[in-house]
Amino acid sequence: MAKLLILAASTGKNLKLAMELKAAAEIHGHEVDVMDLCALDLPMYTPESEKQHLNHEDIQSSMKRILHCDGMIVCAPEYNGSHPPVLSNFIAWVSVQSSNFRLLFNKRSVGLASASGGGGNHVIMSMRMQFSFLGSNVLGRSIVVNKSKSLNPDAVEDMITGVLR
Ligand SMILES: Cc1cc2nc3c(=O)[nH]c(=O)nc-3n(C[C@H](O)[C@H](O)[C@H](O)COP(=O)(O)O)c2cc1C
Repeated sequence: MAKLLILAASTGKNLKLAMELKAAAEIHGHEVDVMDLCALDLPMYTPESEKQHLNHEDIQSSMKRILHCDGMIVCAPEYNGSHPPVLSNFIAWVSVQSSNFRLLFNKRSVGLASASGGGGNHVIMSMRMQFSFLGSNVLGRSIVVNKSKSLNPDAVEDMITGVLR
């Protein structure tokens, strides 16, 4: 049994996708933690707000949850051909509150998934670039769900075994 963390960067179809991935991983006996980034309701990161939230409780506990996992899947919607502000904001906060900005993501296996309007491939590319920069081992195969593409159970199985290898 391994520990999987799923980040959901929106509360609609992406949180639903996160819960579907959770259910699939639990069938294999894995322990799954779903982190709803919107529910954290973090302040917008700016150099000024950083000074006001030096040890923000929710950021600190999120960091512990990431360090605790064996592998991670990120479910995020495509916004204007890129990733949504809640994900950028979260990554900015955890990077400045770690001793090293790569600490949480370096060498970590990361799977990328998106439930988007009509596309989804741009947010996957954008997340691939960011998590690779942070040192993660990003799986080659991703999951995209949109108005003309339903969830592929084969891709789900591949992602779960890939991130928890
Ligand atoms: C600001 C904004 C920008 C969007 N840009 C795109 C886009 O570039 N490509 C796309 O496929 N869908 C786009 N969408 C649609 C969302 O990806 C889609 O509604 C998705 O389901 C939202 O995720 P959620 O249901 O988890 O909230 C956009 C939606 C919003 C609000």
